[in-house]
Amino acid sequence: MRRSCPRRPGPLAAALLGLALLAAALGASCRGRTRPAYLTPDYGSWRKTTELLLDYPVPGHMDRLRVPRMNELGWSARPREEGGKLRWDFPEGSVIVKEVYASRNPAPGEAPAELTIMVKAPRDPAAQGGWLWLTKAPGGEERLFEGSFCVTCHANANERHPYLDGNPREEFRDYVFLLPALPAASPGPAAAEPDAY
Ligand code: HEC
Repeated sequence: MRRSCPRRPGPLAAALLGLALLAAALGASCRGRTRPAYLTPDYGSWRKTTELLLDYPVPGHMDRLRVPRMNELGWSARPREEGGKLRWDFPEGSVIVKEVYASRNPAPGEAPAELTIMVKAPRDPAAQGGWLWLTKAPGGEERLFEGSFCVTCHANANERHPYLDGNPREEFRDYVFLLPALPAASPGPAAAEPDAY
């Protein structure tokens, strides 16, 4: 069954982005829409986009341990040079999932408390910045996040920002903070192999 969902929060809500708002906004996201599940069951084996220990606080994802992973299609993305700067455009169907644990130090084998998901789907009318923004609770279904909360903050990835390398040259990074090619990111075993051609 479909329900109508508000497309965007008002300007005041947008101005109040922060830790408390995330919880509230997640609860208010639209649950009724039927969509395919984008996370395949093997997602736990997708390569991590960084080996950095993401246990420090960031607004929007808090100070809980976070493990970002990307499907193989996403790993095929290569930036092109435009005006002396790199420009990223992930292929349609790229999926990035970030496992968010309940605390900074989850017990061995502990399951994540929540998954936040980005799916590159520029032709989907619900896409914002070319991506669908979703969340998934353990055992629950993927829920499309139709407010502008996620995309507004992730737009910072395309400009100079306070996270990771800070994007000092203001490259367009397709709303992704942890690019596979950033020095801190892990190339993973497959990418470390010499090119076959
Ligand atoms: C206030 C800022 C902010 C908001 C809001 C936010 N994020 Fe993020 N997100 C980040 C930062 C910073 C990272 C980089 C990794 C880290 O430190 O956790 C990130 C990383 C991610 C990643 C890994 C890909 C990447 O960009 O590196 C996914 C997937 C993700 N977020 C999904 C979401 C979804 C879905 C929402 C909305 C429900 C959301 N985020 C809301 C700041 C935000």
